[in-house]
Amino acid sequence: MWTPTDPEHLHRFLRTRRSIRRFRPDPVPEEVVQRVLLTSIHAPSAHNLQPWRFVWIKTHDSRARLAQALTSALRVDMQAAGAPESEVASRVARSDRRIHQAPVLLLLCRDCSAVREHKPQDEVMAIQSVAAAGLQLLLAAHAENLGGNWICWPLYAQPSVRQALDLPLTWEPQALFILGWSDERPSTKTLLPLHQIVLER
Ligand SMILES: Cc1cc2nc3c(=O)[nH]c(=O)nc-3n(C[C@H](O)[C@H](O)[C@H](O)COP(=O)(O)O)c2cc1C
Repeated sequence: MWTPTDPEHLHRFLRTRRSIRRFRPDPVPEEVVQRVLLTSIHAPSAHNLQPWRFVWIKTHDSRARLAQALTSALRVDMQAAGAPESEVASRVARSDRRIHQAPVLLLLCRDCSAVREHKPQDEVMAIQSVAAAGLQLLLAAHAENLGGNWICWPLYAQPSVRQALDLPLTWEPQALFILGWSDERPSTKTLLPLHQIVLER
């Protein structure tokens, strides 16, 4: 068992994590990414089933195929919603840039075979467990002074992302994480006050 010697310090660390979407082009050493992944998998999981799986996108070809799968889905969604073509083109270009410019890309998946039973509650618990690993990944990146952002786009293109990256059939893409050395200062964020969101009974 480990307890922080200075809880204030740890609270400050946890409260200063922010989403970072713009990065300096400097590479992130592989051992730093390894440490982030290792901390991520220490997250809690229902029945300790550890349903998280990661795809570390390393080659230019994989990056391009992932970008293609994600932006195609975005284009289809926006066109179906009747968005003007100029807006579709600019959102697709922005998303494509984000994927190509991020120094590190980690795709977080859920292994659908890692459940005790296939009851709806077990499926939810597995997704909750994967989300816990996602948060832990962002906090581990923060510990390395890396910026990161959780991106939900893979949820809208699960089969095409699986196919683009040749993933096992049971791997269900859940989120994309972009990491790198921050090149932005996030604006202040307003939090809902505790008294609005906590009931005491
Ligand atoms: C499940 C989930 C999905 C998210 N998806 C996206 C996304 O697709 N694009 C994006 O820019 N940020 C995304 N975010 C980041 C949120 O926008 C961000 O966490 C929120 O605005 C609060 O800001 P903070 O992370 O700086 O505290 C996502 C966060 C979560 C937890």
